[in-house]
Amino acid sequence: MNEFDDIYTNTRFDREPHQHIEGLALKSPKRRFMLGASVSMAGLSLLGLPNAAMSRTRKTILSVFDSVPHSKLDTIVVPKGYSWQVVNAWGDAIQGTAGPSFKQDASNTAAEQTLQSGMHHDGMSLFPYPKGSKNSSTALLAINHEYTDDGLLHSDGMANWNAEKVRKSQAAHGVSVQLVQKTPAGWKTQPSSEARRVTAFTPIEVTGPARGHALMKTAADADGVLVLGTLNNCANGETPWGTYLTCEENFNGYFVNKGTTTAEQKRYGINDKGFGYRWHEHDERFNAELHPNEANRFGWVVEINPYDANAMPKKRTALGRFKHEGAMVTQAKDGKIVVYMGDDERNEYIYKFVTKNAHDPKNPARSADILDEGTLFVAKFSKDGKGEWLPLVQGRNGLTAENGFASQAQVCINTRQAADRVGATMMDRPEWIAVHPKSQQVYVTLTNNSRRGTGTESANKTDGTTTAATANPRIDDANPRKDNAMGHIVRWSEFANNPTATLFDWDIFVLGGDRTLVDSNKHNSNKGDTFGAPDGLWFDPAGNLWVQTDISTSTLGKGDYVNMATNMMLVADTESGELKRFLTGPLGSEITGSAMTPDRKTLFINIQHPGESPSERADPTKPQAISSFPDGAAGQRPRSATIAISRDDGGLILS
Ligand code: FEO
Ligand code: CA
Ligand code: CA
Ligand code: CA
Repeated sequence: MNEFDDIYTNTRFDREPHQHIEGLALKSPKRRFMLGASVSMAGLSLLGLPNAAMSRTRKTILSVFDSVPHSKLDTIVVPKGYSWQVVNAWGDAIQGTAGPSFKQDASNTAAEQTLQSGMHHDGMSLFPYPKGSKNSSTALLAINHEYTDDGLLHSDGMANWNAEKVRKSQAAHGVSVQLVQKTPAGWKTQPSSEARRVTAFTPIEVTGPARGHALMKTAADADGVLVLGTLNNCANGETPWGTYLTCEENFNGYFVNKGTTTAEQKRYGINDKGFGYRWHEHDERFNAELHPNEANRFGWVVEINPYDANAMPKKRTALGRFKHEGAMVTQAKDGKIVVYMGDDERNEYIYKFVTKNAHDPKNPARSADILDEGTLFVAKFSKDGKGEWLPLVQGRNGLTAENGFASQAQVCINTRQAADRVGATMMDRPEWIAVHPKSQQVYVTLTNNSRRGTGTESANKTDGTTTAATANPRIDDANPRKDNAMGHIVRWSEFANNPTATLFDWDIFVLGGDRTLVDSNKHNSNKGDTFGAPDGLWFDPAGNLWVQTDISTSTLGKGDYVNMATNMMLVADTESGELKRFLTGPLGSEITGSAMTPDRKTLFINIQHPGESPSERADPTKPQAISSFPDGAAGQRPRSATIAISRDDGGLILS
């Protein structure tokens, strides 16, 4: 994420009473499908009650490694018996030694950047190579490059701003696909016909309900079917038919509207300032006053075929438009594909999409466009651990023409307003979602929320330019802490363990925090290691749950996070809710992205924005002021990177 995640555009709490939902079966699900033992133990630990079951010695996955302490080091620390290496870093050629090499003074051109790894690595998936194999020594890595620090991207930072700098910034965004191979000297990027960059100017087809809609048409694309680029690619997903899903998050920050912003633009946080990328100064489509529809063409889930560098990526509009964190895919017994998605902003929602058609593993090619048809739902977390999925279907529950939803295209383009209307539950910034590979129980990280409470704190107005006194949403069962500074993880089981169900049972898996703090509202509920601001969340193929933190660089080592000077990755015991720290990252970085080889011997993760300053833009005269990861003092600037972690004895990760 970047700090700009932390804005607020949902004023529904003030505007609308709770909406009645028509046509939903509201009968209570039986709770038999919850993991009874884990629920009761987690519940007791939340209440601080002693529990004989918790003190019983139970061998868990956490006993196979020694906890790593909090770190203030500008490097990665892993448990005894494990090692790490850099696989690629921003600016390394995606064709390995066959491409343009990185220049430490950041003098690579925009054209060279289109052949190199982008900046700010984030979500990532591994695709065994060749397709259909379980090869664990050669694979394609698809890697998101979420955003840029233009203070580091150019030798003189953002001085002398020009079209070439905009082009280089756009080229450092998007996705890279690169072939990595295990060699005697470790994992290396190799030349490959599959290697490619998808950038903020790569042609991408629009598919699904919003394709060709009037709101998708622009001066450059009169048909509303072809968008140039993808940006702010945050987390990810992968499909059973071998494609990569990359998710557009804070797209609003690239647009600037110096005129009058529309209500639709305000709801998505578009204003007269943007986030300071300054693209609109040399690429007019980011001027949202002149080209108001261009922003409607971002905020989507994009599907990329990593095995075909010539296949045009597709924006799958049926999955809705919002600040997508990730797109976690699972499959129901009837073959339908279910995609879980969070909208990462304070008081936004959790969604799922259920395909109309079934995926047939024997005919994977038939699923090529399966994500274009189906039903989008938004989550309502009710009291007593019950929940419902509310359909966002034109014509139902007030999603009618008189309310601004004349077609499903409009529901998909203005998904947030549709979800407001049906009465979805505002959450504490939904980040990643993970599904257990066997039980299909679902977990979501809620990273923090400074606008959760009962009072009348000052809140941003929706245009982001002024503030006014307004109430923040109350705490509720699923978001139980006022001004949630430390974050938490919620989980649910779908009715009858069927991912397509419209009812679910949920509970709070763990509250983040630090028990040494005075304020008990900021104590972690687990008996294990302290953590806060959970973000990356991933089940590995063995069913082990990994949690990655994104404590903002303005908070690391200070205030509530005084004991957490660097971000970290932990392993969770899903039975007890205990977390144990497995890794700490370099200074000013966040830990994100997870992928594993089929043999479970190599774990890949991403180190995003090492050396980031609280302002998120480095001083180009002091690029190593905070971190020199991974090149050390001999390098001239910190670089985001993909890391491979393995056991020294060649064994399985977490064995
Ligand atoms: Fe890109 Fe919400 O993190
Ligand atoms: Ca994130
Ligand atoms: Ca985050
Ligand atoms: Ca961050």
